[in-house]
Amino acid sequence: MNYDVLIIGTGAAGLTLALRLPDTLRIAVVSKGPMNEGSSLYAQGGISAVLEETDSVDSHVADTLDAGAGLSDPETARFVTERAADCIHWLINLQVPFSTLQKSDGTTTLHLHQEGGHSHRRIVHAADATGRAVETTLEGLVRARRNIQVLEHHVAVDLITDRLLGASGSRCYGAYLLDRKGDRVHAVSARKTVLATGGASKVYLYTSNPDGATGDGIAMAWRAGCRVANMEFNQFHPTCLYHPRAKSFLISEAVRGEGGILRLPDGARFMDRFDPRGELAPRDIVARAIDHEMKRLGADCLYLDISHRDPDFIREHFPTIHQRCLEYGIDITREAIPVVPAAHYTCGGVVVDRHGHTDIPGLYAIGECSYTGLHGANRLASNSLLECLVYGISAAEHIISSLDPVPTPQAVPPWDDSRVTDSDEQVVVSHNWDELRRFMWDYVGIVRTSKRLERALRRVALLQTEIHDYYGNFRVHSDLIELRNLAVVAELMIRCAQARRESRGLHYSLDYPEQRESDGSPTILSPSQTDPVLP
Ligand code: FAD
Ligand code: SIN
Repeated sequence: MNYDVLIIGTGAAGLTLALRLPDTLRIAVVSKGPMNEGSSLYAQGGISAVLEETDSVDSHVADTLDAGAGLSDPETARFVTERAADCIHWLINLQVPFSTLQKSDGTTTLHLHQEGGHSHRRIVHAADATGRAVETTLEGLVRARRNIQVLEHHVAVDLITDRLLGASGSRCYGAYLLDRKGDRVHAVSARKTVLATGGASKVYLYTSNPDGATGDGIAMAWRAGCRVANMEFNQFHPTCLYHPRAKSFLISEAVRGEGGILRLPDGARFMDRFDPRGELAPRDIVARAIDHEMKRLGADCLYLDISHRDPDFIREHFPTIHQRCLEYGIDITREAIPVVPAAHYTCGGVVVDRHGHTDIPGLYAIGECSYTGLHGANRLASNSLLECLVYGISAAEHIISSLDPVPTPQAVPPWDDSRVTDSDEQVVVSHNWDELRRFMWDYVGIVRTSKRLERALRRVALLQTEIHDYYGNFRVHSDLIELRNLAVVAELMIRCAQARRESRGLHYSLDYPEQRESDGSPTILSPSQTDPVLP
């Protein structure tokens, strides 16, 4: 298995990159499960882009920086927002069915939604299932490309680098992939390797993300020697459906953009007590307000109410949410929706440059697993799919221009499992999964304290020791690989949170409740300068 480009991850970032590479290259795209199963498929609200004359890139940049609470890099924000309109036109040319609006002169134009933190309507969407429209279109095109081999149900275990091989250089040569169906680990070599593995919100007990969001790319890059930044900033989406049978179902921010009102259990509106922008304040503010009110009242959930809008409008704009809530017995045209905050988006990740290139030659990271500087201390709604597209394209351009001198790698050493056996105690893995996600929710959640962070670090150290022993003795399987990675990203989140002695954006500490102007820089961790948590 030897490719020009190995892309680990088939969400919006990985598939964009694959389609932007020439069809003369031998490319492999890898996904843990079915190709379309990642966060991209579930994105609801849309993709932000300046498309109206009354809007401007300056305004999009300003909103991005404002949400980022002083930590977004202005040049990155401009780089991304300036390219947004081209990305949308590329997707339209690929036939992504975005929602349109008929104008009074009979012509049609894109319908734009508004979301929290945006000072203009600029969210391009496909009703309330934008991710599905984008992902399935890209998936169909990738499957039709003969130069792209699709490796579904393959889990990347680790990157193959000089460091892993004990050699003196620092290149990446590919990755070890566990074939889940054949139960074997293959060494896959490539001239260029790309991590497009999505976020890590599964580290928390409650999340809007699908099961695979376990931070694998971030953990693999860290083990390989890459720097990682801003992991203290995990975004909590304010409104996930609260229902015993509903797992990870989001109620889009666009519902608030179209007039949805947040209410307490007695029906009272409360957001105006927290921010003059009310329901359309940035997400960190809304999530913290909901968390505060739930704790104050001892309530299991609060409510999002759009029932005052015309039922036909609701059904037309939010068909997926309307239908899904009906399945749980909630008619959103007539009643308020029970909601709770849940972990939603990993703002930090693997440090990359403008082309998605990491610290290791030959290794890129794009999409949610990367840290580009765009999101700072809090991501602006609908800027994530945009970042996937922009960096998918810029990484493709860089790969094309830098591939020639890179030789085809020699055969890399096969995976050695000669000294391990089949696990006799699978319960260790499932128990540790639950424990990790619960203490991360309780100790490293929306509101933090120094004591809780210390406790969390002690627990993650203990878990890492157990996982390390287990990993060394038993044959790998996907739950173990994910648990090992979750423990690494949990550690990185805790360490970043401990390093930030202030409250800013998504990181709120009761011990340091103020924002300190002197701390307006990202938290960057380097594997070579961080004491290992393992003994
Ligand atoms: P993903 O789409 O998450 O894909 C990750 C891929 O990596 C998958 O193919 C997975 O199988 C693969 N993978 C992971 N680990 C491994 C491994 N070890 N081996 C092999 N393969 C691996 N953002 C917006 O901008 N607008 C929105 O409206 C919006 N709505 C959202 C709604 C929901 C419910 C969620 C969860 C997120 C939403 N987001 C939204 C965020 C956005 O969807 C994600 O940030 C974005 O889709 C991430 O894309 P990605 O390509 O980086 O990763
Ligand atoms: C949503 O639709 O509320 C999600 C938008 C996002 O995460 O950007």
